[in-house]
Amino acid sequence: MHRTGIELQPATLKHLEEMARLHTETFLHEPWSAGFMEKLLRRTGAFGLIAQAPSPSPPLFGFTIAQQALDEAEILTITVGRKHQRTGIGGMLLDRLVNDMKNRGVKTLFLDVATDNHPALALYHSRDFLECGLRRNYYRNGTDAQLMAKNLAL
Ligand SMILES: CC(C)(COP(=O)(O)OP(=O)(O)OC[C@H]1O[C@@H](n2cnc3c(N)ncnc32)[C@H](O)[C@@H]1OP(=O)(O)O)[C@@H](O)C(=O)NCCC(=O)NCCS
Repeated sequence: MHRTGIELQPATLKHLEEMARLHTETFLHEPWSAGFMEKLLRRTGAFGLIAQAPSPSPPLFGFTIAQQALDEAEILTITVGRKHQRTGIGGMLLDRLVNDMKNRGVKTLFLDVATDNHPALALYHSRDFLECGLRRNYYRNGTDAQLMAKNLAL
């Protein structure tokens, strides 16, 4: 099923508490606090997007944060609430992020993903990200990180 009526908007400081709640729900072992994400979003070149329904003060369905440095950028996180996964929201967030990054002059978009995170790997493969390296024991639980990149200049 794919969702309609989802609004994508830049993440702002008013979204931080909901973002932290969602991150805790989906990254049980490495949740990010509102304070941590505030620091990320205040950095030069940081960019966040949220997905929500178009009613007053709706809950967040998902969000992503990326960091740009000149013509490269990295996806720091992307997440969709458990109840709303597999409904197209992660793909929408990623597609918009790629488009916005292109408009900002980014030529290569990087990310890392746990090698056992099959839904995320499937999402990135579906958007033509290519594997470009491996970091052993990268995550706290000892899982390896798969590095992936997408050439936005093509
Ligand atoms: C990874 C994540 C963001 C995907 O978001 P989503 O909204 O469920 O993804 P979508 O519904 O937009 O799916 C887009 C495509 O990704 C792939 N995909 C996503 N989840 C999948 C799954 N569980 N199994 C197989 N393919 C999957 C499919 O190709 C899918 O396209 P399709 O629905 O046409 O088959 C979501 O699973 C999530 O939040 N996971 C927890 C947090 C996380 O691991 N984030 C990534 C860290 S690197």
